[in-house]
Amino acid sequence: MTQDGKKDLVTLVDSASGQKFELPIIPGTMGPKVLDIRSLYGQTGYFTYDPGYTSTGSCESKITYIDGDAGVLLHRGYPIDQLAEHSDYLEVCYLLLKGELPNANQKEKFEKDIRTHTMVHEQINAFYRGFRRDAHPMAVMCGVVGALSAFYHDSLDIADPHQRMIASHRLIAKMPTIAAWAYKYSRGEPFIFPRNSLPFAENFLHMMFATPCEEYKVNPVLARAMERILILHADHEQNASTSTVRLAGSSGANPFACIAAGIASLWGPAHGGANEAVLQMLTQIGSKERIPEFIARAKDKNDPFRLMGFGHRVYKNYDPRATVMQRTCHEVLDELGVRDEPLLELAMELERIALEDPYFVEKKLYPNVDFYSGIIFRAMGIPVSMFTVLFAVARTVGWVAQWNEMIGDPHQKIGRPRQLYTGATQRDFVPLHARG
Ligand code: ACO
Repeated sequence: MTQDGKKDLVTLVDSASGQKFELPIIPGTMGPKVLDIRSLYGQTGYFTYDPGYTSTGSCESKITYIDGDAGVLLHRGYPIDQLAEHSDYLEVCYLLLKGELPNANQKEKFEKDIRTHTMVHEQINAFYRGFRRDAHPMAVMCGVVGALSAFYHDSLDIADPHQRMIASHRLIAKMPTIAAWAYKYSRGEPFIFPRNSLPFAENFLHMMFATPCEEYKVNPVLARAMERILILHADHEQNASTSTVRLAGSSGANPFACIAAGIASLWGPAHGGANEAVLQMLTQIGSKERIPEFIARAKDKNDPFRLMGFGHRVYKNYDPRATVMQRTCHEVLDELGVRDEPLLELAMELERIALEDPYFVEKKLYPNVDFYSGIIFRAMGIPVSMFTVLFAVARTVGWVAQWNEMIGDPHQKIGRPRQLYTGATQRDFVPLHARG
């Protein structure tokens, strides 16, 4: 707004016709203002062209704020490092879903609500057997989570806020069970049912590593590390998987189908699959002596190799989650008595060399959240194929919070981008015998 109460505007001039068009500027509470282009096509006959949405705000949101240049990440205004240090995952879930931190009564009730939903329908048990034992657990996750819509018919009505909240609680609560069972299935071990007396992260580790044969005690340091990892991955505004969830949901699709779409998007190595790719890359590099060779490959435009766990669409500074992750990595390795973890040493040396290299400095490529998480997971005994699954477990709350926000938004419309068409112009059909 200008001082005389008028809206700030940007004036565009069409150099071909000399016509002028005015577009309003909308401020947020923080961060860059946006240019409201909703009337652009109507006014000018032009669409915008922005592959990868590098300059496009797809929605209004009150959930997460990122300042990529300063390396700041806030959930509902709270800095991620404070949440990782002082909060727990379910409290962060409450915050993301409802907008405020819970008081003691609200926290107790929310934890009870989630606990009520940790089991999955018994028929889902049988569903797993349709998969090969060597299926990637992310493939199993896409299938089983999508199939939830066939089991929970009483929470599919997206117009009913109560049903939306039940579906959200179900997804947050069942995801660890579904993920742990994907792992158990791959090992040919019996499924371990949720133990609702345990806190969220501990319950997950218990379902992953306990067997019916003997007592399994979760190491409290590892449980705390897992809690922190879940918090660090809980939400990250309009990233690829979250935008996928919003786009799928914008057509009115049910929440379980939307989250399955989000899981599919997360799977890619440019997104959540990067934590798996980092460990494979470190293993491939093998020794500190070979780092320069791989740095050179990452810089070579003719080589598709990229330094996995480096770079981010939004962060042009150190990813604040990577800082907490690196600290957690040291804590976990200390607790487990891993004094010389070659992969950690390799990762730290790779980070040091990359951060001094002009290519990475100029392009502002810093370690992202995935750079250290794989080393922690490996030390905890989690197999590489489960890394992205853990990300999916943690991100579920972000997906459902963003999906709920979208459905509740009075301006919500079906997501339907346009295109710059560069194909053939209209031509007449040529019969087969007349084609060359
Ligand atoms: N290694 C080498 N070069 C890189 C890397 C990298 N990891 N990341 C970006 N670059 C270079 C690109 O080649 C490009 O160079 P150019 O301008 O000379 O063409 C420039 O930096 C910009 O890269 P873009 O791909 O245009 O940036 P974009 O924002 O589209 O991509 C992405 C971001 C996908 C994260 C990219 O940095 C990447 O592929 N990183 C490795 C994969 C990874 O770690 N993904 C996890 C992201 S975090 C998350 O999802 C939780």
